[in-house]
Amino acid sequence: MKSKRSLALPQKQKRRKNEEPKIETIRILCVGGARPNFMKLAPLFRAFSRHPEFSPALIHTGQHYDEKMSGQFFTELGLPAPLYNLEVGSGSHAQQTAEIMKRFEPVVLQEKPHAVLVVGDVNSTAACALVAKKLNVAVIHVEAGLRSFDRSMPEEINRLVTDAISDLLLVTEESGARNLEHEGVAAEKVQFVGNLMIDSLFFQLEKSKSSPILDQLGMRGKRFGLVTLHRPSNVDDSTQLEQLLRVLKEIAADDLPLFFPVHPRTRSCLDSQQLPSAIHLLEPLGYTDFVALMSQAAVVLTDSGGVQEETTALGIPCLTLRANTERPITIDQGTNRLAGTSYETILRAWQELKKNPPKGKAPQFWDGHAAERCVQAIRQALATA
Ligand code: UD1
Ligand code: UDP
Repeated sequence: MKSKRSLALPQKQKRRKNEEPKIETIRILCVGGARPNFMKLAPLFRAFSRHPEFSPALIHTGQHYDEKMSGQFFTELGLPAPLYNLEVGSGSHAQQTAEIMKRFEPVVLQEKPHAVLVVGDVNSTAACALVAKKLNVAVIHVEAGLRSFDRSMPEEINRLVTDAISDLLLVTEESGARNLEHEGVAAEKVQFVGNLMIDSLFFQLEKSKSSPILDQLGMRGKRFGLVTLHRPSNVDDSTQLEQLLRVLKEIAADDLPLFFPVHPRTRSCLDSQQLPSAIHLLEPLGYTDFVALMSQAAVVLTDSGGVQEETTALGIPCLTLRANTERPITIDQGTNRLAGTSYETILRAWQELKKNPPKGKAPQFWDGHAAERCVQAIRQALATA
């Protein structure tokens, strides 16, 4: 089996002299499953719609399914309705990954796409990449090459597996290209296109200014912090979560009310915790409301991948409550600082941040035009196959 075949376009017709080139339709199945996938896919669908030779379809795996983790983003971000919703729901890693694979395979067989495009590092990403590749369909990975070098993170395994079998690897920052080079990925498969999530951020920023959330929370013109937490290592262990809440309480005592939209994974673990009154729990927010809060926050405390990037693009100070990050550019050039995961390291990082608020600049190609570069890279890769 020649791997080249998997990137091939539909057979090109021989052209007669003076005949217009016939534009073949390029069928791409774009996979989304979890919240951060939708922000990455929305600008891509807008860009595809400017190129009629592409016929993209959205496949929702159903990894996230609550209205607040999935449905609301389709409306807010203007995503097309999914062609299929695989409705896999929650489960252990093996159950969820296997179920996605079982349900995605017949879709690929039925739709016969020229490529399957996956984004990010969630279970849906790795599962659908595996299915496509085994059916000899080209795999395009958006946000390739990021590495935390921490294999206890499920996302790191998903990144390694997906990148190892992808035919076109689109990277958001230069570290991604460097990591792939070290892993022996051929340079011609890798393209530095920038960050789709920042396309979404810039597209929605203006709209977020009319969000009512600052008034609803009584925070317009006031100083506040924003918190998100959902990494299993931070929230699944009640002792670790309790340690984080203790340090958040300390930070809130600096006359800084903290607003905490709670991810469903975290909700069940929080139920058993004593919550200080300066920490205000909220339901998971819609994107416009979340961006409205993030863009006005004095500090964001998070373990989210996407939020590290968005705060850098907005120039908002961010403390990442993790020991590592797969997005080093947010520290080297942006406003992100690694705070670790213990009471002491986080408190120290907060005190340092107050003395020296991080200043940064937007990394290269985090400019709102990454989707167009993705489409050009895909077109080029398919045409030269
Ligand atoms: C997943 C991704 C993670 C990503 C995050 C974004 C993997 C391995 N993890 O983590 O990389 O950062 O999404 O938010 O793919 N649940 C609900 N409603 C939902 C979805 C989930 O209640 O709509 C609850 C269920 O109890 C479920 C738990 O949240 O068991 C975890 O969901 P899951 O998709 O397995 O992982 P996340 O922690 O969301
Ligand atoms: N986000 C949101 N509402 C929230 C929390 C986050 O819309 O209540 C957005 C955030 O702006 C970013 C994305 O969700 O675009 C990040 O998703 P998440 O933190 O769940 O996943 P990760 O990026 O860590 O994989």
